[in-house]
Amino acid sequence: MNTGPLRTAVLISGTGSNLKTLIEASNRGRLNLDLCQVISSRADAPGLEHARTAGIPAEVISESDGGLQDQKITACLRPHDPELVVLAGYMRILGRQPVEAFSGRMINLHPSLLPLFPGLDTYRRVLEAGNPMHGASIHFVTSELDAGPVIAQVQVPVRENDTPGDLAARVGPREHALLTATVELFARRRVEMSHEQVLLDGQPISQPLQLNEANVFA
Ligand code: GRF
Repeated sequence: MNTGPLRTAVLISGTGSNLKTLIEASNRGRLNLDLCQVISSRADAPGLEHARTAGIPAEVISESDGGLQDQKITACLRPHDPELVVLAGYMRILGRQPVEAFSGRMINLHPSLLPLFPGLDTYRRVLEAGNPMHGASIHFVTSELDAGPVIAQVQVPVRENDTPGDLAARVGPREHALLTATVELFARRRVEMSHEQVLLDGQPISQPLQLNEANVFA
Protein backbone atom coordinates (compact mmCIF):
# COMPACT_ATOMS: atom_id res chain seq x y z
CA MET A 1 0.00 0.00 0.00
CA ASN A 2 1.14 3.54 -0.77
CA THR A 3 2.19 5.17 2.49
CA GLY A 4 3.79 8.29 1.00
CA PRO A 5 2.37 11.79 1.40
CA LEU A 6 -1.10 12.09 -0.12
CA ARG A 7 -0.90 14.28 -3.23
CA THR A 8 -3.68 16.77 -2.54
CA ALA A 9 -5.09 19.69 -4.51
CA VAL A 10 -7.43 22.26 -2.97
CA LEU A 11 -9.99 24.44 -4.75
CA ILE A 12 -11.09 27.64 -3.03
CA SER A 13 -13.08 30.80 -3.67
CA GLY A 14 -12.82 32.85 -0.49
CA THR A 15 -11.09 33.13 2.85
CA GLY A 16 -9.49 29.71 2.63
CA SER A 17 -9.68 28.91 6.33
CA ASN A 18 -10.07 25.23 5.42
CA LEU A 19 -7.02 25.39 3.16
CA LYS A 20 -5.12 27.01 6.04
CA THR A 21 -6.23 24.16 8.32
CA LEU A 22 -4.77 21.60 5.90
CA ILE A 23 -1.52 23.55 5.49
CA GLU A 24 -1.05 23.84 9.25
CA ALA A 25 -1.92 20.19 9.90
CA SER A 26 0.56 19.17 7.23
CA ASN A 27 3.29 21.47 8.58
CA ARG A 28 3.00 20.08 12.08
CA GLY A 29 2.97 16.49 10.87
CA ARG A 30 -0.63 15.83 11.83
CA LEU A 31 -1.43 15.02 8.20
CA ASN A 32 0.94 13.38 5.74
CA LEU A 33 0.13 15.53 2.69
CA ASP A 34 1.85 16.78 -0.41
CA LEU A 35 -0.21 19.90 -1.10
CA CYS A 36 0.52 20.06 -4.81
CA GLN A 37 -1.86 22.68 -6.23
CA VAL A 38 -4.36 25.33 -5.18
CA ILE A 39 -6.90 26.69 -7.64
CA SER A 40 -9.07 29.69 -6.88
CA SER A 41 -12.19 30.68 -8.79
CA ARG A 42 -11.52 34.29 -7.78
CA ALA A 43 -8.40 36.37 -8.28
CA ASP A 44 -9.16 38.33 -5.08
CA ALA A 45 -9.72 35.29 -2.82
CA PRO A 46 -7.84 36.03 0.42
CA GLY A 47 -7.12 32.29 0.69
CA LEU A 48 -4.62 32.55 -2.17
CA GLU A 49 -2.26 34.19 0.28
CA HIS A 50 -2.17 31.02 2.40
CA ALA A 51 -1.06 29.06 -0.67
CA ARG A 52 1.60 31.60 -1.59
CA THR A 53 2.98 31.78 1.95
CA ALA A 54 3.17 27.98 2.06
CA GLY A 55 4.86 27.85 -1.35
CA ILE A 56 2.06 25.83 -2.96
CA PRO A 57 1.54 26.48 -6.69
CA ALA A 58 -1.61 28.57 -7.00
CA GLU A 59 -3.62 29.26 -10.11
CA VAL A 60 -6.65 31.47 -10.68
CA ILE A 61 -9.19 29.92 -13.03
CA SER A 62 -12.16 32.24 -13.01
CA GLU A 63 -15.13 33.46 -15.00
CA SER A 64 -12.71 35.42 -17.15
CA ASP A 65 -11.73 32.02 -18.60
CA GLY A 66 -15.22 31.89 -20.08
CA GLY A 67 -16.61 28.47 -20.90
CA LEU A 68 -13.14 26.96 -20.54
CA GLN A 69 -13.04 26.93 -16.75
CA ASP A 70 -13.72 23.22 -16.35
CA GLN A 71 -11.25 22.21 -19.05
CA LYS A 72 -8.59 24.47 -17.53
CA ILE A 73 -9.16 23.01 -14.07
CA THR A 74 -8.78 19.46 -15.38
CA ALA A 75 -5.68 20.39 -17.36
CA CYS A 76 -4.15 22.16 -14.36
CA LEU A 77 -4.74 19.24 -11.99
CA ARG A 78 -3.91 16.30 -14.27
CA PRO A 79 -0.11 16.66 -14.32
CA HIS A 80 -0.10 16.44 -10.50
CA ASP A 81 -2.17 13.25 -10.60
CA PRO A 82 -3.75 14.20 -7.26
CA GLU A 83 -4.99 11.38 -5.09
CA LEU A 84 -7.38 13.84 -3.45
CA VAL A 85 -9.01 17.04 -4.68
CA VAL A 86 -10.69 19.02 -1.90
CA LEU A 87 -13.39 21.57 -2.71
CA ALA A 88 -12.96 23.79 0.34
CA GLY A 89 -15.30 26.74 0.10
CA TYR A 90 -15.24 26.48 -3.70
CA MET A 91 -18.32 28.44 -4.68
CA ARG A 92 -18.69 27.44 -8.28
CA ILE A 93 -20.52 24.37 -9.58
CA LEU A 94 -18.00 22.18 -11.39
CA GLY A 95 -18.95 20.75 -14.76
CA ARG A 96 -18.97 17.12 -15.76
CA GLN A 97 -15.40 16.99 -17.08
CA PRO A 98 -13.42 17.56 -13.86
CA VAL A 99 -16.02 15.69 -11.81
CA GLU A 100 -15.60 12.60 -14.00
CA ALA A 101 -11.83 12.98 -14.35
CA PHE A 102 -11.41 12.90 -10.56
CA SER A 103 -14.34 10.69 -9.63
CA GLY A 104 -13.70 8.96 -6.31
CA ARG A 105 -10.87 11.39 -5.61
CA MET A 106 -12.82 14.62 -5.21
CA ILE A 107 -14.53 15.67 -1.98
CA ASN A 108 -16.60 18.70 -1.00
CA LEU A 109 -17.10 20.35 2.34
CA HIS A 110 -20.67 21.51 2.86
CA PRO A 111 -22.03 23.44 5.86
CA SER A 112 -25.11 21.32 6.63
CA LEU A 113 -26.07 17.83 7.71
CA LEU A 114 -26.64 16.49 4.20
CA PRO A 115 -29.02 15.48 2.72
CA LEU A 116 -30.57 18.41 4.59
CA PHE A 117 -30.00 21.84 3.09
CA PRO A 118 -27.98 21.35 -0.06
CA GLY A 119 -27.08 24.62 -1.82
CA LEU A 120 -26.44 28.04 -0.34
CA ASP A 121 -27.39 29.95 2.78
CA THR A 122 -27.68 26.90 5.01
CA TYR A 123 -27.40 28.76 8.33
CA ARG A 124 -30.39 30.99 7.65
CA ARG A 125 -32.39 28.08 6.28
CA VAL A 126 -31.79 25.77 9.24
CA LEU A 127 -32.81 28.52 11.66
CA GLU A 128 -35.98 29.19 9.69
CA ALA A 129 -36.79 25.47 9.70
CA GLY A 130 -36.37 25.39 13.51
CA ASN A 131 -34.11 22.31 13.44
CA PRO A 132 -32.29 21.61 16.71
CA MET A 133 -29.09 20.43 14.98
CA HIS A 134 -26.85 21.78 12.25
CA GLY A 135 -23.29 20.94 11.27
CA ALA A 136 -21.09 20.11 8.32
CA SER A 137 -20.66 17.22 5.91
CA ILE A 138 -17.91 15.95 3.63
CA HIS A 139 -19.05 14.01 0.60
CA PHE A 140 -17.65 12.57 -2.60
CA VAL A 141 -18.40 14.85 -5.53
CA THR A 142 -20.70 13.44 -8.18
CA SER A 143 -22.48 15.23 -11.01
CA GLU A 144 -25.45 16.13 -8.79
CA LEU A 145 -24.94 19.19 -6.56
CA ASP A 146 -24.17 18.35 -2.89
CA ALA A 147 -25.60 14.88 -3.45
CA GLY A 148 -22.62 12.49 -3.62
CA PRO A 149 -22.13 9.82 -0.94
CA VAL A 150 -21.51 11.41 2.44
CA ILE A 151 -18.32 10.26 4.15
CA ALA A 152 -18.44 12.10 7.45
CA GLN A 153 -20.31 14.71 9.44
CA VAL A 154 -20.03 16.80 12.55
CA GLN A 155 -23.12 17.94 14.44
CA VAL A 156 -23.47 21.30 16.13
CA PRO A 157 -26.52 22.10 18.30
CA VAL A 158 -28.58 25.15 17.35
CA ARG A 159 -29.04 27.50 20.31
CA GLU A 160 -32.07 29.61 21.05
CA ASN A 161 -31.69 33.09 19.57
CA ASP A 162 -28.82 32.01 17.31
CA THR A 163 -28.31 34.25 14.30
CA PRO A 164 -26.90 32.76 11.09
CA GLY A 165 -23.61 34.45 12.04
CA ASP A 166 -23.56 32.89 15.53
CA LEU A 167 -24.18 29.46 14.09
CA ALA A 168 -21.57 29.89 11.35
CA ALA A 169 -19.02 30.95 13.97
CA ARG A 170 -19.64 27.75 15.96
CA VAL A 171 -19.75 25.41 12.95
CA GLY A 172 -16.51 26.81 11.44
CA PRO A 173 -14.01 25.30 13.92
CA ARG A 174 -15.91 22.01 13.98
CA GLU A 175 -15.81 21.95 10.18
CA HIS A 176 -12.03 22.38 10.29
CA ALA A 177 -11.75 19.46 12.70
CA LEU A 178 -13.99 17.38 10.44
CA LEU A 179 -11.84 18.18 7.43
CA THR A 180 -8.64 17.22 9.25
CA ALA A 181 -10.06 13.92 10.51
CA THR A 182 -11.53 13.04 7.11
CA VAL A 183 -8.43 13.90 5.14
CA GLU A 184 -6.47 11.77 7.60
CA LEU A 185 -8.57 8.78 6.51
CA PHE A 186 -7.57 9.51 2.92
CA ALA A 187 -3.92 10.01 3.86
CA ARG A 188 -4.00 6.59 5.51
CA ARG A 189 -5.65 5.26 2.35
CA ARG A 190 -8.59 3.97 4.38
CA VAL A 191 -11.48 5.47 2.44
CA GLU A 192 -12.65 5.15 -1.16
CA MET A 193 -15.78 5.32 -3.27
CA SER A 194 -17.10 2.29 -5.12
CA HIS A 195 -20.40 2.21 -7.01
CA GLU A 196 -21.38 5.49 -5.34
CA GLN A 197 -20.87 3.99 -1.89
CA VAL A 198 -18.32 5.01 0.71
CA LEU A 199 -15.97 2.20 1.68
CA LEU A 200 -13.98 2.39 4.91
CA ASP A 201 -11.21 -0.19 5.11
CA GLY A 202 -12.87 -1.89 2.14
CA GLN A 203 -16.30 -2.17 3.78
CA PRO A 204 -19.37 -0.05 2.90
CA ILE A 205 -20.49 2.30 5.67
CA SER A 206 -24.23 2.32 6.37
CA GLN A 207 -24.26 5.94 7.49
CA PRO A 208 -21.83 8.86 7.54
CA LEU A 209 -19.07 8.71 10.15
CA GLN A 210 -19.79 11.11 13.02
CA LEU A 211 -17.03 13.20 14.54
CA ASN A 212 -17.34 13.37 18.32
CA GLU A 213 -16.25 16.08 20.76
CA ALA A 214 -12.80 14.51 21.05
CA ASN A 215 -12.44 14.87 17.26
CA VAL A 216 -12.58 11.11 16.78
CA PHE A 217 -15.02 9.24 14.57
CA ALA A 218 -17.49 7.45 16.81
C1 GRF B 1 -17.07 26.77 4.52
O1 GRF B 1 -18.01 26.98 5.50
C2 GRF B 1 -17.54 25.64 3.63
O2 GRF B 1 -18.34 24.72 4.27
C3 GRF B 1 -18.35 26.35 2.60
O3 GRF B 1 -17.72 27.59 2.41
C4 GRF B 1 -17.02 27.97 3.59
C5 GRF B 1 -15.65 28.37 3.16
O4 GRF B 1 -14.71 28.53 4.08
N1 GRF B 1 -18.51 25.54 1.43
P1 GRF B 1 -13.17 28.85 3.77
O5 GRF B 1 -13.04 29.59 2.44
O6 GRF B 1 -12.43 27.56 3.77
O7 GRF B 1 -12.78 29.75 4.90
